[in-house]
This record gives sequence, C-alpha cells and structure tokens, in this order.
Amino acid sequence: SESTSVNTNIVTLTRFLTEEQVKHKEATGDFTLLCHALQFSFKAISYYIRRATLVNLTGLAGQSNATGDDQKKLDVIGNDLFISAMRSSGKCALLVSEEEEEIIYFKDHTGARYAVACDPIDGSSNLDAGVSVGTIFGIHKLADGSTGTKEDILRPGSELLAAGFTMYGASAQLVVTMKGGTVNGFTLDNSFGEFILTHPDMRIPKKRAIYSVNEGNSLYWEENTKAYFNSLKYPQESGKPYSARYIGSMVADAYRTLLYGGIFAYPADKKSPKGKLRILYECAPMAMVFENAGGQAVNDRMQRMLEIVPESIHDRSGIYLGSYDEVEKVKSFHK
Ligand code: AHG
Ligand code: MN
Ligand code: MN
Ligand code: MN
Repeated sequence: SESTSVNTNIVTLTRFLTEEQVKHKEATGDFTLLCHALQFSFKAISYYIRRATLVNLTGLAGQSNATGDDQKKLDVIGNDLFISAMRSSGKCALLVSEEEEEIIYFKDHTGARYAVACDPIDGSSNLDAGVSVGTIFGIHKLADGSTGTKEDILRPGSELLAAGFTMYGASAQLVVTMKGGTVNGFTLDNSFGEFILTHPDMRIPKKRAIYSVNEGNSLYWEENTKAYFNSLKYPQESGKPYSARYIGSMVADAYRTLLYGGIFAYPADKKSPKGKLRILYECAPMAMVFENAGGQAVNDRMQRMLEIVPESIHDRSGIYLGSYDEVEKVKSFHK
C-alpha cells in the first residue's frame, strides 16, 4: 500500500533544475550550470562542516573580515569552496562574499551573465558547538550589455533572479526560490549524494506565537522595539505569551520560522544603528524567500526589505521577517 512503500518517484535538484530550464524556451543552460556549481559548493561545505571536529577544522583562522567578524577556519574554507565553484562554473561574472573585502571579478568568464552574493557560512559563531549553520546566496543578472560592474550587484532584492539558503543541521536542507516563483525545499541524501525535493511549494503559516531575537541586545533597543517585544511577552487581555526561540544562526532561525511561522528579527539598536545583518547576502535573499512563501520582510523603518538598495557591498540593515500577520503586528508598533 501507499503507506508502506518507499518513495520511488524522487525529484532530485538536478532533475528539478533541468525541468525548470526546459520550461523556459529561451534558456541557454547558463543559469542551470551556475546552479549546479552552487549545488556542489553546498555539498562540499556540508561535508567539511560535518568532519570539522575530526580533522582540526574548529576554531579561529586568525584574521577578521571586512565587516569586522573574527573568521573561523571554516569561514575561510567555505569562502574558498564557494569562490572555486563560481569560478569553475564559468557563468559568474562577479561575486560578493561576506569574507571578501572587495568584489571578485572573473574577468576570463567572457559571456558570463550573473552576479552572485554569498554568505558562505552563516552562523559561524555556532560552528564549534556543532549547532546548525548554513550558506545564503542571491543571484542577479547583469544589465544588458554589461560585462560586470559594481552596479550589477548593488541592486534591490526585488530584482533578484534567484535566492536561497542551506542549513547544515541534523540533515542538510536547501531552500530555493526564483523570481515570481514558489519556494522549494530539498534535503541532502548523503548516500545518493543528491538534494531531494522534500518540501515543494513551501508556504509560511499566516501567524504563529513564536519570536526569535537576541534579547541580550534589549538594553540598546529603541522604545518601539521594546514595546513590540513586550507586547508579545506580556499580552493584554487574556492572550498567551509567545514562545522564544533563538539559535543565533540566521539560516536556522529563518528555516524554523519558514516552517512553523512566527517572527525573526535583528533590529537596529543604539549600539548598532544600522543593524547587524548585511543586505546583499543576508537580508535580501531571505526576504525574497519569505515573500515568495507568503510572508513579509521589512527593515526598521517598515520599508519592504526587497526595495532597499545598498550603497556598498557590505551595507547592513535592521530586519524583521516572518509570517504575514506577525509582520503586520510589527508595523503597528512602528507607526
Ligand atoms: P555570520 O556568521 O555569517 O557572520 O552571521 C552571523 C549573523 C547571523 O547568523 C545571526 O542571525 C546573527 O549574526 C547572530 O548575531 P548575535 O550573535 O549578535 O545574536
Ligand atoms: Mn561572519
Ligand atoms: Mn551571516
Ligand atoms: Mn558568514
């Protein structure tokens, strides 16, 4: 019967990407090739993370990156793996990485039409404790006639061609969305070495009483931020208070929020007036995923995150993202 038989009609990411390509008559296969390179980098990063404790890959690398974070050894390896994947694809004209101060231009990729932004390992402070981390990416198409300049990546998230993230947790999960499309979730089957479509057409629940924020920053919060979170913890009338969940890896907190609903926030505060998370490779890709799944994402001024245009590649923003109704509630406290 259905309930006892194994699933034999498996949709792999490879099949999924090829079917997408076939649907678009005008497609050249370049985007599919770029995605295959991404797919390989996710498998490789996942592999090294799982072996880290065994092969002396825990701890600091000894440098800090452009945004002032202390780099872990795995931040450096994840970055190298991602850069190599983009280089070998031949389809990436330029790359922005959290771990690189400047844009990397692949000048020998003549005809490459894509600009990519990535956070090779998000949540790297959690690495040595074996807590979930992941990779975040956003893909833009170069402007017509451009061979790849800064202006091709300093674009609003609304122009992203595709975006997504992985979470290397109990299993490796991949969440991908394309412009105007649905959100699809894949799980890496280590024995097949394939990402399998396990969560087709992901939709975020309209509301859920879970909040996710680093409450250790509350001393520095603005008054409306405090008022909003207090309203969740000390509801008026007879409402029940929200549950708190905070992992400290955006990918893991966002993945849970996508599946269960609720709100994830990293607001700007008096200590970090521009917020902590970076627009190109953290805020915008996540915002695209959440909007395409039926949720919302806004900055501290309640502007749609996907409309924010960064002035430089490592620009930051405060962010609230989550269930549609929960973000509406955030807005009601920021009028
Ligand atoms: P990264 O590890 O890529 O530098 O990103 C860290 C980010 C994000 O993963 C997380 O949501 C947030 O920083 C956690 O910050 P706090 O430790 O300040 O809560
Ligand atoms: Mn970092
Ligand atoms: Mn990050
Ligand atoms: Mn990172």
